[in-house]
Amino acid sequence: MFHVTVKDTYDEVSAEAFKVMKEVMYGDHTPVLGLATGSSPVGLYKEMIRDHNENGTSYKDILTFNLDEYIGLPRDHRESYWTFMHVNLFNHVDIPDENVHVPLGCGEDPEADCAAYEEELAKHTVDVQVLGIGSDGHIAFNEPGCPFDSVTHVMDLTEQTRQDNARFFDGDINQVPTKACTMGLASIMRAKKIILIATGANKADAVYGMMKGPKTVDCPASILQDHAEVYVFLDKEAASKL
Ligand code: GLP
Repeated sequence: MFHVTVKDTYDEVSAEAFKVMKEVMYGDHTPVLGLATGSSPVGLYKEMIRDHNENGTSYKDILTFNLDEYIGLPRDHRESYWTFMHVNLFNHVDIPDENVHVPLGCGEDPEADCAAYEEELAKHTVDVQVLGIGSDGHIAFNEPGCPFDSVTHVMDLTEQTRQDNARFFDGDINQVPTKACTMGLASIMRAKKIILIATGANKADAVYGMMKGPKTVDCPASILQDHAEVYVFLDKEAASKL
């Protein structure tokens, strides 16, 4: 079930998304958070940092599980998702590093590392999973064609996704890794609630496919049509095809 909020600006979109996050953070138990990278959730993370600074909301006992990581980048690479999360959230709140989980993209055996990640993830219930959406309808790094029953796995990135993400790698697609370790679609669907943030005209087709298109692996995000509680935060451009 989708609950859709459309706002004019990215800041308003982020503030609305934070309302759902805040309910979870202020709920009756210390939550497990599923987190995402990309530009879409950065405003939400700013709201979370502000709330930590102004209201003292603590992350001391919070566990986080990130969706995905590039294969082949060391953790301290400037564009690894490990680095992204530290720069955009973890370094600014009081979360102990041992509570942070980001798939390992730089190990010897990525398949085994994915299996180990899934095993750890499956021990917990994610209270809220933050998601962006790729322009080809991917969520996390589950590209078109990825089976709906997938769990954490190695994924070959599409040309489109590598092109979209080249802006983080000096605009050079050749520097963008070709594979990633990603939570699967079935792993994501286990989260109790989902916050999905999308802004900009280049997301309009993917947002339409997710909500109004057929449920098909050609648009991985369309699996969310089967989820009980998905909060979708959009600007007018991303909502323009609905
Ligand atoms: C990457 C990430 C996704 C993210 C998507 C959209 O491919 N793996 O988790 O949702 O990009 O990114 P952005 O929010 O920067 O548009």
